[in-house]
Amino acid sequence: MLQPPRVECYKEASVGTWPPRLPNLYETFTQRLRAVATIVRMPIVPCSGALMGRAETLVRSVFRTMSPTERLSFYAIRNPSSIIGRLLMILAGVRDVIAFDVYVDESDRVLGTTGLYRYKRDAEEAAWVAWFCVDPQARGRGIGQALIDHTVSRARAAGFKRVRLYTSTDPNESAAQRLYEKNGFMEVRRQGGLFGTTIFREKVLGDRA
Ligand SMILES: CC(C)(COP(=O)(O)OP(=O)(O)OC[C@H]1O[C@@H](n2cnc3c(N)ncnc32)[C@H](O)[C@@H]1OP(=O)(O)O)[C@@H](O)C(=O)NCCC(=O)NCCS
Repeated sequence: MLQPPRVECYKEASVGTWPPRLPNLYETFTQRLRAVATIVRMPIVPCSGALMGRAETLVRSVFRTMSPTERLSFYAIRNPSSIIGRLLMILAGVRDVIAFDVYVDESDRVLGTTGLYRYKRDAEEAAWVAWFCVDPQARGRGIGQALIDHTVSRARAAGFKRVRLYTSTDPNESAAQRLYEKNGFMEVRRQGGLFGTTIFREKVLGDRA
C-alpha cells in the first residue's frame, strides 16, 4: 500500500528552507499599501489628460442649453495660458479657473464634475462654482453631495468667504435647487434672459463646513 510521504515532506520543508526565509518585507509593505490605497482611494481628482475629454462629454450631455461663452469654456480650461484661452476668459469676465475636478469610478469613468473659478468683478470676495453635474446613471448615490462638499472645502481652503453660483429654472436643474438649499446656497437674485431665467445663489462660509 502506498504511504503518504510525510517524513520526506517534513525533511524537505525544513532542510530546503534553511536558512529560514525571512518574510519579504518590501512585498508585504507594498501589498498593505496597495490595500490601503484601494480603501482610501479619493474618487474626486483634478481633471487632466484623458479625463478632460470624458468630463467635457458628460458636461455637454447634461447641459444641453449653453451660452456661447459656456460652450467655449472648456477650451479655456484646457488652455488657460494660450492667447485664445485668455481672450475667452476676458470676454466672460473671468479672472482665473481655480479648479476643475472630477468624480471617477474605479475604471476612471467620469461620473461627476465640479469647478471653481473667479470673476474679475468679485475676485477678492467670492469663488464661483462651475459645471457641477452628475451622470444621470449615477445620480441619487451621494456623488452630488460629495462634489459640493469638496468644492466648498476647496473654496474655504483658498480663503474665500463666499461661494456663489448661477443655476436656472430649467426642469433639468430642479434637483440641484434642493441640493443647493440643503447646503446653504441661498437664492439672492433672479434674472430673465435669452436662455431662460437665471437664479443666482450664494453661500456664506463660516468657520466650519
Ligand atoms: C444636482 C445633481 C448634481 C445631484 O447629483 P446626485 O449625485 O444625484 O446628488 P446626491 O445623490 O448627492 O443627492 C444629494 C441631494 O440632492 C437632492 N436630489 C438629488 N436627486 C434629486 C431628485 N431627483 N429630486 C430632488 N432632489 C434631488 C436631494 O436633496 C439629495 O439629498 P437627499 O438624498 O438627502 O434628499 C444631479 O441631479 C445633476 O447633475 N443634475 C443636472 C445638472 C445640474 O442641475 N447641475 C447644477 C446646475 S448649476
